[in-house]
Amino acid sequence: MKKRILSGMRPTGKLHLGHLVGALDNWIKLQDEYDCFFMVADWHALMSEYEDTSRMSEYAIDNVADWIAAGIDPDKSTLFVQSEVAAHLDLCMIFSCLTPLGLLERCPTYKEQMRQIKTRNLNTYGFLGYPVLQAADILIYKAERVPVGDDQLPHLELTREIARRFNTLYKKNIFPYPQALLTKVPRLMGLDGRKMSKSYDNTINLSDSEEIIRRKVTSMITDPKRIKLADKGHPDICNVFAYYSTFIPGLKEEVAANCINAKIGCTECKKILASGLMDKLKPFHARREELLRDKNGIRNILDKGKEKAVAFSSTVLKEVKGLIGFKNA
Ligand code: TRP
Ligand code: SF4
Repeated sequence: MKKRILSGMRPTGKLHLGHLVGALDNWIKLQDEYDCFFMVADWHALMSEYEDTSRMSEYAIDNVADWIAAGIDPDKSTLFVQSEVAAHLDLCMIFSCLTPLGLLERCPTYKEQMRQIKTRNLNTYGFLGYPVLQAADILIYKAERVPVGDDQLPHLELTREIARRFNTLYKKNIFPYPQALLTKVPRLMGLDGRKMSKSYDNTINLSDSEEIIRRKVTSMITDPKRIKLADKGHPDICNVFAYYSTFIPGLKEEVAANCINAKIGCTECKKILASGLMDKLKPFHARREELLRDKNGIRNILDKGKEKAVAFSSTVLKEVKGLIGFKNA
């Protein structure tokens, strides 16, 4: 029996290169070794985007198209939409009853978001409970591994704490203690050198056209000490060079040598990078367009995934309700 994995992404925008390197590539590799459940976390998106939900379902389909175009195989993995599988919320409510408020109020991700995000009112009951729903997402499938970025580690800690409380209270080791599967690749920085994020407007989206990608790469910051072409560059501190390492490692040595000896200018260097990126993305774009041409295609995949997710999660929910003493529906 393969171990189960669950992970999710919130449908709050288009996916970018950071998602590919930080999450998707990892998901793709795990598909053979594990029984994978990948979900569109639309409830979690609603928790912060409830004031404007107009593009959420569009992003959901668009994100799933990106997953599949990148290499997630719907025949191997179960792809579904969180809000279509009711048992997540049943389990979330049960967990809410046994999760101390202090654990949620002290959660570092919660404190940070409350401090940083000023454009939306996150001072809500739902948002405080964000990690409780995440725990339910994971434990309703009894998933033992969760591929996530290190920003999600506090949520996994809470998931294990909730599992421990439930198992202890109801005297049965029904839930596993899930562990994160962290990606080892260094984080990909955005065009401006900060973390790549939609809110910084510094992303290269997976679906960006060749023209946009070339324009964005041209705008990337480079070695700040290199002003004139004759100045020797420092690839180790250059964001453009970091992209070479990730996307066109074969050209890395040559470009580094040329940069250090001032034999290549940044404009030229960026042109090569843009072309290398396009070589990677062209087959991806072709698959993506084909998938999106058939609107029912992705919907059908999500319907099949939903069926599997409902079947699995309702069995676990029955078991949980039985332990509590609720009538088994
Ligand atoms: N909180 C996750 C994020 O922002 C998304 C998510 C929701 C998730 N439920 C999950 C990730 C369950 C892993 C497992 O990236
Ligand atoms: Fe960076 Fe390339 Fe310019 Fe060197 S030549 S500083 S690696 S962009």
